[in-house]
This record gives sequence, structure tokens and C-alpha cells, in this order.
Amino acid sequence: MVVISLGGSIISQEEIDEEYIFEFRRFLERMGKKEKLYVVVGGGKTARRYIHAAQRIGMDQYTLDVIGILATRLNASLLLGRYSYPKVAESIDEAYMAGKNYNIVIMGGTEPGHTTDAVSLLLAERAGEKRVINMTSVGGIFDKDPKTNEDAKLILRLSYGEAEKLFLNRKMNAGLNLPFDLLSLKIAERSGIEIVIIGKDLLSLEKVIKGEEFRGTVIGSPNFENGKKG
Ligand code: UTP
Repeated sequence: MVVISLGGSIISQEEIDEEYIFEFRRFLERMGKKEKLYVVVGGGKTARRYIHAAQRIGMDQYTLDVIGILATRLNASLLLGRYSYPKVAESIDEAYMAGKNYNIVIMGGTEPGHTTDAVSLLLAERAGEKRVINMTSVGGIFDKDPKTNEDAKLILRLSYGEAEKLFLNRKMNAGLNLPFDLLSLKIAERSGIEIVIIGKDLLSLEKVIKGEEFRGTVIGSPNFENGKKG
């Protein structure tokens, strides 16, 4: 069983990336014949546009989150198919139960107060899965901002403690966004779930699923190896 957190910015920028969604759907249809996959989809630009508008209207934070969740579900709905549980699952329990009858289950956010990354970790906890694959536009964690530093190096491994330090340092350094949040990290740590951060490339995704070598960052306990199943 595989839990994938698909960063919203991969599918929703200024435009919806229909080509990528088409490829992702084909991937799900093919992989779903032999693997059970849960895909948690983020809000991307769709969420940011609506949250921004709601903020300017003066809505409260809780309602902004509710609007964000709706955006994640809207994005998620583009991955539904004959191969999947026929609706976007709205809770961890619904997704988990749907996984008993379907190999592919698609969901977005659940409750206000966290992100879809946290949802993917909670789902992994619920399903007893020890790994979450986090697909982001950046493709991993780098020692410097790869957008402005040509010599930025990909960090292959981080312990939960190191990732937390990095998170707290970089939080004060705007522009160097990390593809995970502190809550997700804490959930991963309490249950010993590895977070595998890769880019949008579907070949890399397949390699991670098959336990082959891949390019990306793994966050986990200090004694683990990149590319090997825990
Ligand atoms: P995302 O998971 O896409 O948030 O959910 P994000 O990590 O901020 O976005 P990226 O990865 O940088 O693109 C979008 C928004 O929806 C709400 C939050 O407001 C979140 O910022 N949300 C999402 C929830 O409140 N609960 C959820 O379970 C999921």
C-alpha cells in the first residue's frame, strides 16, 4: 500500500496542468492493477486564489481553511476515474474504508487547522503504513535555494530532528520554503513514518513504489538508507 501526497502546485498553477493530470491518471490506472494507492491532493494556486479573495473579504481563519479544503477536493476530483473509489474521500476513515474495496482512493483535505501533507501522514498512521511519498515541484530538500543557487545540493537523508531544525531555521528565511510542515513532521516522528520527498516525475514515483533507487530526500529515523524500503 502506498500513500502519496501530491503537492497542489504540481497540478494547479496559473492554469490546470491537464497533460500532467492525464499522465497521472494513466499511471493510477496501470499501477492500480497491482498496488493499493491512496492519493492526497493539495490545493495549489486554486486554493491560494480563493483563500486570498476570502481574506480580503474579511473572513475568519477557520472559514479560510474550509475554503482551502474545498479547493483541494476540487483538484482531487480531476483524478477520479473508473479505476478509483468513485468520490473524493472526505475523511481519513472514509478513505481507509474505501481502500478495502478499491485499489485507488483519491482525497483532498479533511478538517481545518492543517494541510494535505498532514492528512497523508494521518492516513498512513490509520492504515499502518510506514512511508508517505511527498511529490513537490522542487523535488527534495536542498542545502540552499536551488532557484537562486546553481550549486545547491540535494540533501539525501535527514533525521526527524535535523528536519525540524531546518524547518525552524528556514521559517525565518522567507523564500526558502520547505515542502513539509512541522505538524506533519511530528506525526511522522511519533509513528516512525518515513517522508520521501520527490519531484513530479512519474518515473521517480514508480521507482520509490518499487523500492528502487531514486533522486529525492528521505526524512526518517537516523538509521535508514535512501532508496530502501523501511
Ligand atoms: P494544502 O495542503 O494544499 O496547503 O491545502 P499548503 O501546504 O499550504 O499548500 P502548498 O503545498 O504550499 O501548495 C490548502 C489549504 O487548505 C486548507 C489550509 O488552509 C491549506 O493551507 N486545508 C487543507 C485545511 O484546512 N485542512 C486540510 O486537511 C487540508
